[in-house]
Order: sequence, then C-alpha cells, then structure tokens
Amino acid sequence: MKVGVNILTESVFSDHDKKLFEYILDNIPDSITIVDVNCKVIFFNATAEEYYHIKREDILGEDVLIFFPGAILPKVIENGKSYFNIYNSPRRNSYVVLSAVPLYDKEGNIIGALARDRDITEIVKISDLLNKTQLSLLQLEQEYSKISSLGESYFSKIISNNASFIQVINLCKNISKTPLNILLRGESGTGKELFAKAIHYESGRKGKFIPINCSAIPSELFESELFGYEPGAFTGAKIEGRIGKFEEAEGGTLFLDEIGDMPMGLQPKLLRILEDGEVIRIGGHKPKKIDVRIVSATNKDIRELIHENKFRQDLYYRLDVFQVNIPPLRERKGDIILLANKFLQEFCMEQGINIIEIPQDILNVFYAHSWDGNVRELRNVIQRSVILAAQARNDKIEKSYLPSYMRNIELKKSTNNISVSEINELKCGLEEYISNVEKTIIENSLKETNYNKSETAKLLKIPRATLYYKMDKYGIPIDE
Ligand SMILES: Nc1ncnc2c1ncn2[C@@H]1O[C@H](COP(=O)(O)OP(=O)(O)OP(=O)(O)O)[C@@H](O)[C@H]1O
Ligand SMILES: [Mg+2]
Repeated sequence: MKVGVNILTESVFSDHDKKLFEYILDNIPDSITIVDVNCKVIFFNATAEEYYHIKREDILGEDVLIFFPGAILPKVIENGKSYFNIYNSPRRNSYVVLSAVPLYDKEGNIIGALARDRDITEIVKISDLLNKTQLSLLQLEQEYSKISSLGESYFSKIISNNASFIQVINLCKNISKTPLNILLRGESGTGKELFAKAIHYESGRKGKFIPINCSAIPSELFESELFGYEPGAFTGAKIEGRIGKFEEAEGGTLFLDEIGDMPMGLQPKLLRILEDGEVIRIGGHKPKKIDVRIVSATNKDIRELIHENKFRQDLYYRLDVFQVNIPPLRERKGDIILLANKFLQEFCMEQGINIIEIPQDILNVFYAHSWDGNVRELRNVIQRSVILAAQARNDKIEKSYLPSYMRNIELKKSTNNISVSEINELKCGLEEYISNVEKTIIENSLKETNYNKSETAKLLKIPRATLYYKMDKYGIPIDE
C-alpha cells in the first residue's frame, strides 16, 4: 500500500485541511503515531496519548525509540515494508495489535511511516473468561454425564415401539423407586441386565449396583461370595477375611442373575437373610443389619422349577414381589427395525462410516428370522455387518455380510423341500402382504379426511405419533 502524500506538509494541505485531518485522526479508537524519515514523531493522536500516558507536546519532535525502544517504525522506514496485525503487549495486562505502513511522496520516496495500534485488552480478557467458562462448562458436563448416565438415561436406553412393552417399561420405572424386590423374566439377550441397572440407577439408592451370576459360581464358593467370611473361617481363606456381596451392596442393589441356577442347598440361607434383613459372615457370630434391594433375573420358568423341587417356593415369593416379563424380540417385530437402526447408528459412529439405512431385502430377512438370541443377537449381526462394510469401504449393507445361518433364509428359495427357511420365507411374504394392506388403508383414510392427520389417527384408532411413524415407514409424504 502506497500513501502517495506527505500528509502533514503544508505544500499538500491547507491549514484548515490539516486541522480537519488531525481532528479525524484524534477521534478514531486506534492509537496513531506518525514519524518522518528520521524517525522523529510528527503526529501522535489523542487515543495514543491516553493509552500510552504520553503527552503530545512531550513526544512530538523526539525520536520514537526514546519513548518506544522496540518500535517497529524505524524498521518500516529502513526496509519500506508494511506490517499488519502484530500482537504486542506494551505493558502488563495490556494488549494491542499493531500495523505499520511506510508513507511516500509523489515520486515514491519514503518520507515517513504510520503506526496504528488497536487496543485489544478487553477482547483478550473476554476471551480468557470465555476459555475459563468453557473449561468449567466442560467439567460440569462431565460431572452431569456421570450423573445422568446413571439415572434417566439408563431407562432411555431401553427403547421399543411396542405399546404393551412400553407400558411394562414405564411401570418398571415407577416401581424402581419403591423398595420392592423385582424378578425379571425374559429369554437370553432380551435386556434383563439392562433393566436391572436401569432399576438401580432410577431408584436413587446411594449404594452400589452389585451383580452376581448364580450360574457361574461353583456352589462351594457361593456362600462365601454372598455372605463373606471372618479371618481364618476355613482353610484357604484370606487372613484378613472377606466382605460378601450382600455387604458390598449395602444401601444399593444386589442383582442375582440366573437366579434359577441358585443351588438348592444355599436357598434357605438366602431366604433367611431376606426375612431377617441381616447377614452373618461365615465363621462369624455377629449378625449385621443390611439394607439391600434384590433384583433377580431368570430365563427359566421358576414355577416349573418349584414343581421339580429345584427351587423353594418361599424364596420365590420373597424374590418375586413384582415381576417384569420382557417379551422376546420375535414377539415385537416392530422393534427389529427400531433397534437395528439404533445399533446401525452406534456402530457407524464407532467405525467412522455412514450407512443411511438397511436395505429392504435385508429387513425382510430380519423380519423372517426367529432371533433366539434376541436383542443381543441383533446387535451382534449389525456390528458384524457394519465392520464388514467399513472394511470393504462400502456404504451399503450387503446380504453377504450377514452370518451364514441368516443368508440361508434366502438362499434356499429355489429348493422344493419344505424347510424351516421356506416357512420363514412364507412368514416374510406374509409380513410384506400385511404391510401393503396397512399402507393402502392409511392412504385411503388420509384421502377420506383430506389429509387431516389427527382425524386419520382417530379414524384408525392409533396415536398420532404411530400414524407419523407408519407414514414415514411406507414413504407417504407427511406434509401434504
Ligand atoms: N430394548 C433395548 N433397547 C436397547 N438395547 C437393548 C434392549 N434390550 C437389550 N438391549 C441390549 O442387548 C444386549 C443384551 O442385553 P442384556 O445383556 O441386558 O440381556 P440379558 O437378558 O441379560 O441376556 P442373558 O440372559 O443372556 O444374560 C445389551 O447390549 C443391551 O444393551
Ligand atoms: Mg444377562
């Protein structure tokens, strides 16, 4: 940038012009310093006077380096270069960005230089404050997520589209806050552990959530695991003794997983604790009061076990004060697509890829499959498919990514034998047929009500949210 005039020589400006010019420069918020070719200060505006606490009459005519030993202006005069937005702190807790340009006469000779300093002290302070606020916000967020990942969000992890299952979830949420013992019944992989944790964190109990898997502990060790033992209680025991799971769960929840596998010999002891509300460590005499909520889970029919003399009825009544039945996935087919999409999102994030949807032909296989491993199996299938898609750099899920036992559902199409997979295919066809009928009914009802969604929902006796969900599912435009 060339400023082609010596702004302060009377040969260029009249006295009036010069005054006007100085007036303007005095009234801008930046500090302005102008030096001549010998680095003598020839102009110093009012903002500069105020900012640097230097009076104009003291600095004018003096070498700029006397007042500003590190000044950039001599450099500008020496090499004719311009500098822009250089960060500088002329004194403690005070910050400026400065720019400096050479000034030229008509012939292009350097006749001086101009420096403009912008005071950014306030901006620096605000940005410091912002940084600190952001940091404490981050800390708060982390603290909050610790708390919220415990309570509310555990139940919100349990998702379903199935109206009666949603009722079960809500009822269970309400029961969580009571001290009642809860028995969770459901096939493998239906989410029993997820429920148990949700119940604990929703209960607001201050103690820990302690899980114990009754089928995984050898019966000889069971007693010491549950009740603990005093020092030297038996050979091989730890010298200092050991606290049992009941004491560990004090004030919290003890989750007895696979309760149907609890050894018969141990059941009376468990029953006594539940009746008395106190435990005695092995080898000890002093009973200790305990406040523990019991959530148990099983995939077995306990009544049948009672019938076979494998489970005590009195214990069963203690554990099953409130029973939650978690239906298998195949009995709530609507949840397949809901959960599949949820897991798809989760694993795509993990793999850093983007798969928008699961193709219809794969959904058909999903609908037809029996899902004996329930939600866990579905989760594994989606995880496997997403990993294979990521490896192949494919943004689509292909049938070949499914486990072979699922691929067979379609592969056996051409054989004439009536096989399980053929039956599954028929089921798959039925599903499609029902979908088509549903879609037609919805479309007709919409026409009938002139696309009034509340009217249509009333007509079909379904909640409006369900109508939107189904319209979306069948690709019927919502905003008509
Ligand atoms: N309704 C649901 N919504 C979201 N995720 C679910 C749901 N149900 C189960 N899951 C997930 O499915 C997996 C299996 O759940 P969980 O381990 O709780 O099942 P389980 O009934 O205890 O199985 P098992 O009897 O085999 O121990 C977990 O990853 C869980 O988070
Ligand atoms: Mg489990």
